Amino acid sequence: MSEITNESGSSMSSDTSTAASSSSSHSGAATAAGGGGEELSPNLFKKYELGRLLGCGAFAKVYHARVIRNGQSVAIKAISKQRIQMGKLAANIKQEISIMRRLRHPHIVTLHEVLATKTNVYCVLEFAKGGELFAKIAKYRFSEELSRKYFQQLISAVDYCHSHGVFHRDLKPENLLLDENWDLKITDFGLSAVTGQTRQDGLLHTLCGTPAYVAPEILAKKGYDGAKIDVWSCGVILYVLNAGYLPFNDTNLMAMYRKIYKGEFRCPKWTSPELRQFLSRVLDPNPSTRITIHEILNDQWFRKGYKDINYPIDKQFEFKESGDESRFLNAFDLISYSTGADLSVLFDYHVKSEMFVSEKSPATIIGRVEAAAEEEGMGVTKKGMGVRLHGQNWKYVIMVEINRLTEELVVVEVKTSGFGRDLWRDKFKLAVNDLVYVPQPSLSGH
Ligand code: ADE
Repeated sequence: MSEITNESGSSMSSDTSTAASSSSSHSGAATAAGGGGEELSPNLFKKYELGRLLGCGAFAKVYHARVIRNGQSVAIKAISKQRIQMGKLAANIKQEISIMRRLRHPHIVTLHEVLATKTNVYCVLEFAKGGELFAKIAKYRFSEELSRKYFQQLISAVDYCHSHGVFHRDLKPENLLLDENWDLKITDFGLSAVTGQTRQDGLLHTLCGTPAYVAPEILAKKGYDGAKIDVWSCGVILYVLNAGYLPFNDTNLMAMYRKIYKGEFRCPKWTSPELRQFLSRVLDPNPSTRITIHEILNDQWFRKGYKDINYPIDKQFEFKESGDESRFLNAFDLISYSTGADLSVLFDYHVKSEMFVSEKSPATIIGRVEAAAEEEGMGVTKKGMGVRLHGQNWKYVIMVEINRLTEELVVVEVKTSGFGRDLWRDKFKLAVNDLVYVPQPSLSGH
């Protein structure tokens, strides 16, 4: 194993060239299966030219691709709808999309766009040219300075996520990528959970994560604090960066769990006393005494050479000020804000979906829709924060779902099928027209 001391070492260029030169592997992509067995066309929506397979998991495959218009590299995550039909998983994918859409940080992979066919959902992601950090760890042992640099970038991104109520819960080197400057990019939020999903005791209860990185309190199955388990995983990652191998490892799974439980690990001989001391605070098996992100940010070992990373102001709920499109949400939002468990309903050709934003209360909107339904002699069934209108014994249907977007705004999603579509267009739209939110131009001129 060689030790990297220079971040822009020549070994990197040989690694990245394979990722960038997708043309040689196009034929591979043309015959490759999508997230779930569908043959992928090398040309996606006449917009992206698909290249080689970058990675694959149980429900998704990630491909390198180029934007046909300008040749820019992107990564496309193809998720099979077939494999995510089982309600819970569909909810997971939607959650992932919704979460990634909300996060903007220099060390988090950006989600550019979401596309869908009848069989697959495609997430178009920022392409991390340097590939997996994991692959580099397998090749080199990192110097303490370089380990610290990646740990600082990791903590900066994790702190940002936590302050947005998002816990990753599956942090491991495979989810850590590098960009063209060999800076860190976190990806894959498939298992993360938002704060709203905690039980009443404020703890998360899904058994998730990868054994070697899993915090002891998850193994104890007693419920846990998402922030504390991310800190633990960051500790395991820091250990691996410095050592080149895992802190808790054993061919026997029970023996490995026992080591995790006891926080029993030994640092390699080249580890400085300061790093040893720091690691013992991060890999503390007791979550209540384990170092917090706030304490990490103020720790002397951590702070060495750390400059606070500035991330752009949160644009999550910003509307464009001109143009018609500002009133409507795009495909991300369509997926993210739909409450139905089955994603496919949004993209199946027999069901059409449209949405608008409103400042009015859900009760006002539903009241208006119900009044129009009564006039049309349609049946009405309440469903959560929405309503289902049906005619001729459910032969045609209009589904109206409402989700809160900000404190002031809600998103109203309307799904129609059959004659319901004509009815919505010709009768109902008029009834709700004045409820549609029209953003006012900013007086400041920004
Ligand atoms: N592998 C998985 N996601 C990736 C991405 N966004 N860029 C490069 N490789 C990846």
